[in-house]
Amino acid sequence: MDKQTVIVLDFGGQYNQLIARRVRECNVYCEVLPFHTPIERIRAYNPVGIIFTGGPADVFDDNSPKADPAIFTLGVPVLGICYGLQYMCQAFGGQVYSAPVREYGKTGIWYDARCPLFDDVESPAFCWMSHTNQVKTVPNGFEIVAHTADCPVAAMQDPVRRMYGVQFHPEVMHTKNGEKMLHNFLYKVCGCTGDWTMSGYAQAQVAEIRKKVGDGKVLLALSGGVDSSVAAALLSRAVGDQLTCIFVDTGMMRKNEGDEVQAAFEDSGMQFIRVNAEARFLEKLKGVDDPERKRKIIGEEFIRVFEAEAKKLGRVDFLVQGTIYPDIIESGLGDAAVIKSHHNVGGLPNYVDFKEIIEPLRPLFKDEVRALGRELGLPEYLVTRQPFPGPGLAIRVIGEITKEKLEILREADAVVREEIAGCGVDANQYFAVLTNVRSVGVMGDARTYDYMVAVRAVSTTDFMTADYCKIPYETLDKISSRLVNEVQHINRVVYDITSKPPATIEWE
Ligand code: XMP
Repeated sequence: MDKQTVIVLDFGGQYNQLIARRVRECNVYCEVLPFHTPIERIRAYNPVGIIFTGGPADVFDDNSPKADPAIFTLGVPVLGICYGLQYMCQAFGGQVYSAPVREYGKTGIWYDARCPLFDDVESPAFCWMSHTNQVKTVPNGFEIVAHTADCPVAAMQDPVRRMYGVQFHPEVMHTKNGEKMLHNFLYKVCGCTGDWTMSGYAQAQVAEIRKKVGDGKVLLALSGGVDSSVAAALLSRAVGDQLTCIFVDTGMMRKNEGDEVQAAFEDSGMQFIRVNAEARFLEKLKGVDDPERKRKIIGEEFIRVFEAEAKKLGRVDFLVQGTIYPDIIESGLGDAAVIKSHHNVGGLPNYVDFKEIIEPLRPLFKDEVRALGRELGLPEYLVTRQPFPGPGLAIRVIGEITKEKLEILREADAVVREEIAGCGVDANQYFAVLTNVRSVGVMGDARTYDYMVAVRAVSTTDFMTADYCKIPYETLDKISSRLVNEVQHINRVVYDITSKPPATIEWE
């Protein structure tokens, strides 16, 4: 796909991916590369702009991260953010020092309208700051274009060399009009045209996949999750019935999930194979209560079922993997080729005879995968599906798994998800857990001795850390009374109020 590209040069800042996502939201393609990327590799992208991220280092330390110095001779506009600004300042002969006052959080700022970044941006306003070091003197050719009460150089520019730097973080939502500033940099400084769209991507991928696959056979392990569903839809559009999707229903899926996946794909032209393997999985899991063993058993059994089905197809030429861009950035600073070790498909390449892997979602962020799914006509409930662990409900039934416990949890989980979805709280993942605790209750005039369900709801951006959600008491009331009244064998409901860390999102 011939498209304009911006390079986000990563100096180790916590917002590196966020910057890249913001650029993509402006319909401009970008890639995150490590700060030490050789200039030849950067030049090969023919970038229209470069953005330096922030980072934790002190720019005046001898071994602080530095880009290839030729970066400033490419004639390409550069925007430095936080450490990126300081690095640019020092590289051009300005001075950076450790300021007496540290700025952190929402900070009042004054912008100078002469700078194109601040076109249509109101001033004064609030920005998001997070720094101790700051620019003391700007290099020759630069001028100051923003300041705060404690930071005289909150932004600088050299419009001739098209170098721009901001001390604050425009990518963070607390910076008012931050996205506008990035848009201004891309469109008014770099001359971007907005040629990165999901419809364009879909078209280009379809053409590329057709060329690559020819009349070969393609195999995909469909889990029903967003990534594998979107990959399946894309491959199906490209190669139709040359694609076979194998959907292993482990019996550990949520309520109606297996049927929904089947309904979405069965009539789409591809070969769709659903393997109902619940009995096999339950048999293997009998008597097992250790979480890690459960995961291992499910992973291995999954491979066995998949392998048996794949063998029936004979030799396949291509295997599809749903690797997405954050997997690649996180695992190797943008330059490592990795195959996601997802529980559902982990290990498959060793077991199935195939020629090559196709990774059609490799450059995409999660939001873009969802947008691509919509573009390809997938139903909204599939596209907006919450993350769901490969081992499924097996790690939400605490202790030994039985069919009965799974049924209880499926019903309880459906109630929890319905109520939290409608309660107005912005939760990113929410579900029920069937604890292994049974407790005494009283219903009517009779004693009960039944299960305790835990409700989990978290807000998170990356699932590495998470806060528990402040669900309104009214919603908790409703969940509690619906669970006890509508789902057999539940007589107690608790709400999990731990964040991650110290807890994890899942209970096992
Ligand atoms: P934890 O429990 O580690 O979960 O805080 C973080 C996120 O990862 C999901 N998760 C998994 N996803 N295979 C997956 O594909 C797994 O084995 C697995 N275990 C946890 C979890 O649902 C949460 O979104």
